[in-house]
Amino acid sequence: MGKLKLPFKPSETKRPARKRSPAKREQLAVGLDIGSHAVKICEMAVLDDGYQLLSLGSALLPAGAVEDGMLQHPEEVAKSIAALHKNLKIKGKKVAISISGYSVIVKKISLAVMTDSELEAHIHAEAEQYIPFDIDDVYLDYQDLKTNTEDGERTDVMLVAAKKDVVDGFLGMLRSAGLKPVIVDVDAFALENAYEANFDLTENAALVDIGASKMNINIISHGTSILARDVMLGSRQLTEQIQNRFEIPFNEAEAIKLGHAEVGERQEELEEIFTNTCTQWIMEIKRALDFYYSNYPDETIAKMVLSGGGARIKGIEQFFAEETGLPVEPFNPFNKVRSDGNKIDPEYLRYIAPEMALCTGLATRPSPL
Ligand SMILES: Nc1ncnc2c1ncn2[C@@H]1O[C@H](COP(=O)(O)OP(=O)(O)OP(=O)(O)O)[C@@H](O)[C@H]1O
Ligand SMILES: [Mg+2]
Repeated sequence: MGKLKLPFKPSETKRPARKRSPAKREQLAVGLDIGSHAVKICEMAVLDDGYQLLSLGSALLPAGAVEDGMLQHPEEVAKSIAALHKNLKIKGKKVAISISGYSVIVKKISLAVMTDSELEAHIHAEAEQYIPFDIDDVYLDYQDLKTNTEDGERTDVMLVAAKKDVVDGFLGMLRSAGLKPVIVDVDAFALENAYEANFDLTENAALVDIGASKMNINIISHGTSILARDVMLGSRQLTEQIQNRFEIPFNEAEAIKLGHAEVGERQEELEEIFTNTCTQWIMEIKRALDFYYSNYPDETIAKMVLSGGGARIKGIEQFFAEETGLPVEPFNPFNKVRSDGNKIDPEYLRYIAPEMALCTGLATRPSPL
């Protein structure tokens, strides 16, 4: 899974082959994760046994520039992206982005096994019954997951529909930043690709990305995503609650949240905010785990893997582990990625790692010529 490419032809969407002669190595797209808090960029090259990190970085976005997965102020976002691309001296202009939220629908449907051309015709004729949007308003993409056994007559097909106006808004914004968008993925698939690129898939895992305004829960079972859910909760909630409770400006509240400023005697109140919010998050995670266990009672989940800026919260791993009984570990999106310590500071890399997970998933996508 994870080969979605909107609004281009699905047949072009192949994962990079791992074993290639150097002369034939594929060019990868530059990964660009446009979050509501920050934009992250990552450029990699394919090696025989993994990837080489060429460049990476992030830049904060002005408040409100991106909300609910939609561009509110495209010019400001374009400016931040162009500056980041230039400052990091990134060579590639072909970028892969991902979308999420209300403007994209991902649906697994069960269909009779058919040839590729039959499937294409079927999807285009029947898509409207699977998605709640007018078919003329969306870009459609799909992938046969080939779940049928040899004599099976049905197969699962992953169907994705994304609102044209939202996708076109992103494409126009990127072009105005001097870039060439070549791949539009979905957040959950990008996270899954990042995991697949870095870890062996023998164990089932729950990937949890906690950003500023949303949390993505993605259960990977036997190498594919069984459940992917976006929940509109995130670390910004913490800042807003600190802001309200302490009656201070947003930036001061953010500094307190990050541990850059003290609250003196009100430490207990602060801890209460963290506990209440993390409890809300874990309830959503448990709901997803319960859903998985009730549908697949014979399966187990070996671990939870945390990414996103929210994964940096002190004590969150232990809290989640106690609440779920699962081992919890940080997502290292550079596990199988080589990096030259003289070019990229290893300490910076360790620091930025949790926030870069989704972006590295995008940066593993081969760029079409
Ligand atoms: N140590 C920390 N403790 C708490 N929150 C943190 C910490 N470090 C970063 N964050 C928060 O993480 C968020 C940024 O994470 P990230 O870059 O993953 O978000 P994003 O991708 O921009 O947002 P989203 O995916 O929700 O649109 C910010 O809200 C930031 O305050
Ligand atoms: Mg994010």
